[in-house]
Amino acid sequence: NIPPGPKPLPVVGNFGSLFVPPFILKLFARKAEEYEEKRASPLSPQVGLMELSKVYGNMYSLFVGSQLVVVLNGYEVIRDALSNHAEVFSDRPDIPLITILTKRKGIVFAPYGPIWRKQRKFCHMTLRNFGLGKLSLEPCIHEGFAVVKAELLKRNQEAGGQGVDLMPLISSAVSNVISSISLGQRFHHQDEEFRTQLNLMAHGLEISMNSAAVLINIFPWLYYVPCGVFKQLRRVERDITAFLKKIIARHRATLDPENPRDFIDMYLVEMLTQQKPGGSEEDGFSEDYLFYIIGDLFIAGTDTTTNSILWMVLYMCLHPDVQENVQREIDAVVGRGRLPSLTDKGTLPYTEATIMEVQRMAVVVPLAIPHMASKTTEFRGYTIPKGTVILPNLWSVHRDPTVWENPDDFNPSRFLDEQGQLLRKEYFIPFGIGRRVCMGEQLAKMELFLMFTSLMQAFTFRLPEGHQPLSMHGRFGLTLAPCRFSVCVTPRKPETHTTSENHGD
Ligand code: HEM
Repeated sequence: NIPPGPKPLPVVGNFGSLFVPPFILKLFARKAEEYEEKRASPLSPQVGLMELSKVYGNMYSLFVGSQLVVVLNGYEVIRDALSNHAEVFSDRPDIPLITILTKRKGIVFAPYGPIWRKQRKFCHMTLRNFGLGKLSLEPCIHEGFAVVKAELLKRNQEAGGQGVDLMPLISSAVSNVISSISLGQRFHHQDEEFRTQLNLMAHGLEISMNSAAVLINIFPWLYYVPCGVFKQLRRVERDITAFLKKIIARHRATLDPENPRDFIDMYLVEMLTQQKPGGSEEDGFSEDYLFYIIGDLFIAGTDTTTNSILWMVLYMCLHPDVQENVQREIDAVVGRGRLPSLTDKGTLPYTEATIMEVQRMAVVVPLAIPHMASKTTEFRGYTIPKGTVILPNLWSVHRDPTVWENPDDFNPSRFLDEQGQLLRKEYFIPFGIGRRVCMGEQLAKMELFLMFTSLMQAFTFRLPEGHQPLSMHGRFGLTLAPCRFSVCVTPRKPETHTTSENHGD
């Protein structure tokens, strides 16, 4: 009595009818643009999956090969599964390629259980504390923003109206935040070692998600094939491992437990306080775990935040009236004489509502991270067998017409009450819900706020003449990225305090 669903094809199941892996699209696309276009198809998986719920209901079954996948749509059923039945639905599936690369250690793909819980609790608390205290996030973001600002101005001038691709600049600023927090190191965006590591990570992810390496999930032995993408993947893995191990060893050699410099130091101190030299596999506090956790922070914290900021800029280009309102509010509250600060949070309701509305519309992690049923259970009248993969379609929650008025319209005011104060909405869940809710939520919110307000204070953004994004459903991948776009920027004048300026001419 499993939930109903479309009839699967022999061998492949429903795979392919809903989602064609990008590497297959690449094979059939004649030109690069055609590939981009196909990836931006309005039938992105999250949209297709929401459409299916109109036929089969809010909970239905699919098969990927012989693997049963249950897709959850809409807030009620997702909350019921992930919050009310958290003990059963908080596990992660064993995906062969991910298991090879992560050994299921770290946080993101760790099995639900005491080790994951202990590790997560420690990491969650440590990340939260970065907003406060002496390891404050703010100077780090301000410094990153200064680089973005200078580079953007330069590139905008060079582009002569053709627009600038913001992606590399934002991505490097965001990676720098994670680097500062976890490794205690900031890198100049032109720093060779940093660029090499960023490129390696991006390359590794691209291979794992979008190349024939996904076939490792069906035939795990392919990982050892001594040529092609398989060989490339192993080399990238080896290089990243060497880089991170070197940094951890350097921290160990210079550790001062009284003055932890960053996340690695705090973890090493925690290992010491647990009085288990070298750590123990029992509770997971070991250098081995630390290594995989650092990898998780980079992978979970870079693409998500970068794409959220890119979506914000894109929505501002498409809605200049909203952009103007945001700028007006920032001018009134912060002015232009200083950078926005975390203490301004709570005093910029329209700006915060705009950030939330972009997150609602864009849903950068539209299908969360797959969950798994850890035992056979009865759920809402159906049997969910142990090992079933559970996909919570967060996109469907944010586009549900029964809880949002005109859900496809971009309207920040939906997050404001009549007095213009911010409204918290239960159905707004870009970070997921339940025990596996995003571990970096607080950190991400601080980053989004500081980056967005700084960008809006300094620049007005628009798309180059005649340019429009291919689709507003984005490009499905590790996260949902906006289709490639470039922007023209107009610097906003710094505040001046001369009498003639104040009174205007
Ligand atoms: C998990 C969203 C930024 C670390 C998740 C999940 C979502 C999400 C939807 C999956 C929840 C589930 O499986 O049910 C986002 C968004 C971000 C963001 C929208 C930015 C706008 C970050 C940052 C970090 C981070 C900055 C850390 C530096 C994690 C981790 C998990 C996770 C470790 C796995 C949690 C677990 O399995 O227990 N995130 N995230 N995320 N996120 Fe984020």
